[in-house]
Amino acid sequence: MALLLCLWAASLVSLVTAAIGPIDTSKPSMPGGTVVNAAPPGPFFQDFAPPFPTTGWWVGFAASPSQNSIVAGPYPYMSAALDNGFQFGISNTRNFDGTSIIQTTQMDWSASYVQNPNTHTSHKATGWDTQSVTIKYFASSGAGFTTYLVPGSPYMTLNYNAATILLTSLNGNIISVNGTSVGTGSVSVQGTKFLITNSAGTYVLYSLGGSIKLTVTSSTITGASSFTGVIRLARVTSDSTSQGILDQYSANYPTGVALDYTFSGNNATMSFTWTWQLSYALPTITWQPPRAPQASCTSQIIQALEYEVAHLTVAVPGDFYYWGRLLIADSMGRQDLIPAVLNVLQQSYAYWLTPGQSAGTYAAYESAWGGVVDGPGATNANIDFGNGYYNDHHFHYGYFLHGAAVIAKYNTTWWNANKQFVTTFARDIGNPSTADPYFTVARCRDWFAGHSWASGIANGGGTRDQESSGEAINGYYGLLLFAEVLGNQDVINWAKLLWATEVAGSQSYWHLYPNTTDTDTPYPEAGLRALTTIGNVEDYQAGAWLFWGAQRSEIAAIQILPITPANEGLYDAAWLNAVWPYVTQELNDPTVGDEWKAVIYMAYGEINPQTAFSHSTNITAWGGTTSQAYLIYHLATRANPSGATICTATTANPVGNFTIRASTGKYVTSSAAAPQLVANAASGTPFSFTYMPGGGSILNTAITQYVTADPNAAVPLAAARTVAQAYENFKVLQQSDGTYVILALVNNQYITLDSTGELVNNGASLGAAAKFTLVAH
Ligand SMILES: *[C@@H]1O[C@H](CO)[C@@H](O)[C@H](O)[C@H]1NC(C)=O
Ligand SMILES: *[C@@H]1O[C@H](CO)[C@@H](O)[C@H](O)[C@H]1NC(C)=O
Ligand SMILES: *[C@@H]1O[C@H](CO)[C@@H](O)[C@H](O)[C@H]1NC(C)=O
Ligand SMILES: *[C@@H]1O[C@H](CO)[C@@H](O)[C@H](O)[C@H]1NC(C)=O
Ligand SMILES: *[C@@H]1O[C@H](CO)[C@@H](O)[C@H](O)[C@H]1NC(C)=O
Ligand SMILES: *[C@@H]1O[C@H](CO)[C@@H](O)[C@H](O)[C@H]1NC(C)=O
Repeated sequence: MALLLCLWAASLVSLVTAAIGPIDTSKPSMPGGTVVNAAPPGPFFQDFAPPFPTTGWWVGFAASPSQNSIVAGPYPYMSAALDNGFQFGISNTRNFDGTSIIQTTQMDWSASYVQNPNTHTSHKATGWDTQSVTIKYFASSGAGFTTYLVPGSPYMTLNYNAATILLTSLNGNIISVNGTSVGTGSVSVQGTKFLITNSAGTYVLYSLGGSIKLTVTSSTITGASSFTGVIRLARVTSDSTSQGILDQYSANYPTGVALDYTFSGNNATMSFTWTWQLSYALPTITWQPPRAPQASCTSQIIQALEYEVAHLTVAVPGDFYYWGRLLIADSMGRQDLIPAVLNVLQQSYAYWLTPGQSAGTYAAYESAWGGVVDGPGATNANIDFGNGYYNDHHFHYGYFLHGAAVIAKYNTTWWNANKQFVTTFARDIGNPSTADPYFTVARCRDWFAGHSWASGIANGGGTRDQESSGEAINGYYGLLLFAEVLGNQDVINWAKLLWATEVAGSQSYWHLYPNTTDTDTPYPEAGLRALTTIGNVEDYQAGAWLFWGAQRSEIAAIQILPITPANEGLYDAAWLNAVWPYVTQELNDPTVGDEWKAVIYMAYGEINPQTAFSHSTNITAWGGTTSQAYLIYHLATRANPSGATICTATTANPVGNFTIRASTGKYVTSSAAAPQLVANAASGTPFSFTYMPGGGSILNTAITQYVTADPNAAVPLAAARTVAQAYENFKVLQQSDGTYVILALVNNQYITLDSTGELVNNGASLGAAAKFTLVAH
């Protein structure tokens, strides 16, 4: 049976290769050349050459410095491949500490053999596939054992060859074997099935190689003689049926898993050999939302878009991550604005294409593991979020591929010139095939867990984590747009499958449903589900926290961003209905960042674009992944369940040239020598009031300086900036008596007059605001 499974697996593996071939097989030629990671794989891969997996559950077996990390797998086990044996265990504890569910690391047994030379080179990988890895422990005599680590199997399988079984308890003394207590002496047993108990609980041990004789002491189980054959161990739960089920299936063991998939229209069915059939609806939306923007929003979209296009700046690469985030704003249908956007995007990409252009950041092929990295990061895990150590590649390259696909869509010349370069990034995160000699298959994806990991080979390849499910999904969205430009239907299907599976994973592991009646949730703890969003999923814990922030809105927003047209359905109603009340207090708190609120409003637009719009009129900062034009455009193109008007009229700032008179009768002045705004004169400085997204700027036309507000209101307003950005954004609101109050958007405080007539942005309420008359100039 074992042999049959093995052959069957082998034939399916080749089917996969046949199903979707490599995107490309050419040797990567990068502007930064080739670099070598400072933490190359250890002797685990002694029989193989790169490319190697860098991100899966078992990379800790291979990663430097010691190849001895405890890894969370093969599910449901945790394990470590040490020189003196293969350790494994199943956590007995699952704690909810108010924020996280934690399954404490636990080792129960070490599997080895008496002849083990215990050297660092005496165990190695003999093969792997998209889910499993096979490890061989060997001595020069040929003695040893092979273990097939297949996620989802309740058994650990050890295939001995001419070796003497040696099992060591790692969890207290061995208490009994088949009910006979071991004590301080030793017990001899013989048979094909044994129940062995230590502090971890009871494991059942099967021999598939006939009757074996074992000597059991309080610490070890040792074979009486050299053995060739398979033994299997499995944890017996207190459930009385589990032993019977384990007995029933003990004779057949998996040696690997083949992943296959078929596509039919907009559906994909993915299959694992044992045999799971998993069906997914594939995304039908690619570049643009499936409906035109509601007419109520058109003028506001255009106004914001014109402003944003006029104020675009070329992003100079400082790293892969922050650079890429600037590229999200795609064209919104104004053909005349496209060349300017395109031009800026092309200038940004030119930095990547020309060696030496972008000071410390350059794309290189890393040859120790096989992948595209930020060159300087290959020897420093602290650069660019560990990009050179294979952290976060799907996050980073999703933005990169998205931006490149947008340029390519509008400029065939550019695409033809840079296709090879862009394709290298696609291969890095989205290679479908073992026939690509330079890149591992679907680098970040854990197919058994059903989502991707962000962690690479840093820190010895220990704990896996992913805390931005939104950016993981976007990684495969970038791949999808790339595939669309490539025009290769196989790669399109593959990218859609990666996208759809990541979305399903996000909804299973990151979105929490407080009132779910689904008993198949990974989080039966209602207290955890009440937190509405998981911030970080790790391999041994998951919780409502982030490495970099603690606010509820940050935790929700990082699972949402970046918003793309394809994401309809990702932000499901049940989740949004839970998140919205949970974050409301923060949404109304002016000290909470608008960049997080903006994406939450955009997601909420799926179920209520009207409420989302009314909240978003207060947004004045959009972060790297969205903008005012994109926000309104997104809300304007939602399904809009109620059918009601989405973009209600907003009170825009007055536009034109004015002098400003305070209610004291004095006019506001400001000069090069004294740039502070002070209401102290009989005639005033002319100011030009102009639109900005979210509000408007106020320019001192006499000295051509924009009025700026201190976020801490420690100093008065001053005309002291040559460009208007967030600190120079104000809302000028007309009151029923015809006067105006001014709100500084940098701190959401109204302008007041101090005793000397200086204008200060420290009025917490409308009642505290100074009233001004605008006199046309
Ligand atoms: C141990 O106990 C199991 C279950 O009762 C039984 O099937 C098996 O034969 C026993 N093994 C030995 C060696 O006595
Ligand atoms: C996709 O699957 C759904 C649900 O199984 C089914 O209703 C639908 O007809 C399928 N569509 C295609 C194109 O196969
Ligand atoms: C298209 O790309 C080519 C090659 O990079 C460039 O020379 C040209 O200016 C681009 N055209 C436009 C309209 O941006
Ligand atoms: C969950 O149920 C409670 C009690 O019925 C209700 O108050 C709350 O609104 C529900 N929450 C969601 C997100 O449906
Ligand atoms: C917008 O901001 C103003 C001023 O801070 C506040 O009064 C108003 O309630 C906010 N509106 C929304 C919908 O958040
Ligand atoms: C505002 O004043 C500036 C400088 O004097 C002038 O260039 C501009 O045309 C004026 N704008 C309007 C709308 O009058």
